[in-house]
Amino acid sequence: MTYEFLWCEGLPFPDSGFSSEVIKEACTKFVIKDEDTVTVSYPKSGTHWLIEILCLIHSKGDTKWIQSVPIWERSPWIETDRGYKLLKENERPNFLSSHLPFHLFPKSLFTSKAKVLYLMRNPKDVLASGYYFWATSKFSIKPESLEQYFKWFIQGNVPYGSWFEHIRGWMSMRHRENVLLLSYEELQKDPRSTIEKICQFLGKKLNPEELDSVLKNSSFHVMKQNKMSNYEMLPESSMIHSPIARKGICGDWKNHFTVAQDEAFHKVYQEKMAGFPKDLFPWE
Ligand code: A3P
Repeated sequence: MTYEFLWCEGLPFPDSGFSSEVIKEACTKFVIKDEDTVTVSYPKSGTHWLIEILCLIHSKGDTKWIQSVPIWERSPWIETDRGYKLLKENERPNFLSSHLPFHLFPKSLFTSKAKVLYLMRNPKDVLASGYYFWATSKFSIKPESLEQYFKWFIQGNVPYGSWFEHIRGWMSMRHRENVLLLSYEELQKDPRSTIEKICQFLGKKLNPEELDSVLKNSSFHVMKQNKMSNYEMLPESSMIHSPIARKGICGDWKNHFTVAQDEAFHKVYQEKMAGFPKDLFPWE
């Protein structure tokens, strides 16, 4: 079987689980409410990790919710067929997720007081993670080698388009008080402080035991075993074939990039990210 992209609004999307009608309607008509908490990221930035943390903060460390409801129902994806259907229901959850770039995001966000958490990650790790994910997924074009995927990534010819455009677009929101910029790297380096920072942003207070539980139950190894979060629940014939939790480390790109690839990436990065303060990105 061959897989294609679904092209919509000039952007490549996976061709299963997505439709032009839903993407267009979600982008133009979906209403973000003041009470919403929105997780936004470029794919493979650690999105599911952050969603699990948010759910655990919400339940004050209690694991009942994360162990009984699939992650895609706890925080549905605005632009997917499944997520959008769920979100159109009257009693929709207030947690939302999206990989949409800034210019396609529902405009209702900009007049709402919804809390937005934008999660970023070293693009080299995003690339390595994306290669393994798409190469073993059942719902998008499969790269045949990392070398091939490397070229596609630099060109933005991968699901959701260019990482550089994604991050550049969303960075324009970073000074808003209802936007929190987070990185996979800081979550790895100091998960406790980062979770405390998220709690403060959301106006949530957790006691030390509750915080311990959030930490423990969102850890890589616990999440990997949680059937409600690791996509094991989806039938074999469905969208995802590869597990969402692969290695869960920073710097895995070093095991994959050649010296020439690293140099080429660096050059493109310098060009595309010119103008941003260096201390904005923890991988620099
Ligand atoms: P790797 O492929 O580098 O291991 P997303 O959720 O945006 O698809 O991101 C997936 C990446 O986040 C994968 O990276 C995955 O292993 C990592 N990840 C998922 N859960 C994690 C956790 N609890 N702790 C650390 N990394 C996690």
